[in-house]
Amino acid sequence: MNLPENISPDRFLKNFDRSIINDRFEIFKSLKKETRSRFSEDVRKGLSSKKKFLLPKYFYDDKGSELFEKICTTDEYYPTRTEKRILLERSDEISLKNKKIRTITELGSGSSEKSELLINSFLKDRNFLHYIPIDVSPVLMDSSESLLKKFNNLNVSGIISFYENGIKLISHIDSSPKLILFLGSSIGNFTRKDSVEFLKMVRQSMNPDERFMVGFDLEKDTEVLNRAYNDSKGYTAAFNLNILERINRELGGDFDLKKFSHKAFYNSGKMRMEMHLISGEDMKVWIDEPGYEISFKKGETIHTENSCKFTFESIADLADKSGLAVSDHYTDTENYFTLTSLTVKK
Ligand code: AVI
Repeated sequence: MNLPENISPDRFLKNFDRSIINDRFEIFKSLKKETRSRFSEDVRKGLSSKKKFLLPKYFYDDKGSELFEKICTTDEYYPTRTEKRILLERSDEISLKNKKIRTITELGSGSSEKSELLINSFLKDRNFLHYIPIDVSPVLMDSSESLLKKFNNLNVSGIISFYENGIKLISHIDSSPKLILFLGSSIGNFTRKDSVEFLKMVRQSMNPDERFMVGFDLEKDTEVLNRAYNDSKGYTAAFNLNILERINRELGGDFDLKKFSHKAFYNSGKMRMEMHLISGEDMKVWIDEPGYEISFKKGETIHTENSCKFTFESIADLADKSGLAVSDHYTDTENYFTLTSLTVKK
């Protein structure tokens, strides 16, 4: 594989367990795990604060991830299919514009369904490609196996880890110029401060000839936005409520889900969709781990997610604050979504 066999594991890989699956496929597993006590601490902090909140990263247990997949198939939730359409239509062009790049790395690769479109185009113009997916979920193993079956001249180094650790490892695996992908408009779920921190962190790992391609959901008609987060099949409501179910399952909470309802609306002042869970009555909820009671007033909300929407100006501003510059926007005809190619600011 690309990592020289004679390099001491202590030097680069002390935080990772490396498994060579075959001559085209290796996996690095982070030895640093997010523990259950962190979930418990974050829940306690969020529910004890004056304005109650829960962090959206906790939506994604097995049930939440399944529900999110379902949301992506609804007529109302346009971002996934729009981003996919952009990739279907523009991947050949992206490949030709980035001729020197022979490595694609993806942050939060999941099923790699969208990146497959880019891989396919890149392999039309190159006789070899190295793909480095990074994801906390071991689903990365299956998606990588499937890609390796489809593309003979592809090698995969999968990193099962949080982005922060994974990113640091990349340059030790492959020093050639890279296209870094962060698809799905997940950047919108970060706070402004966290998105600048995140972009800066990626920027630090980049050389001037590399590109960072980020999916941004663009601001649009409020009706379209509100429908996307209030789908008629109720998947988004179930996804939102699942965070309470997760607290019940994993932390011994006694939330009565029937007493909470889903609310999602566009906050135009803050340019973001907000998701909340609203308490239907005055009540007390017990949580076993580590053992405390939370009081709710009728109508009180738990703020569970922000999903920021962007304009071309706000993207340029965000990039600038992070030491990056926009090199290209790849959009759909309605300007619902942009895949933006970023480069190191000169
Ligand atoms: C993952 N993320 C980009 C989704 C979003 O649109 O903010 C999560 C989601 N929340 C409700 N529906 C989808």
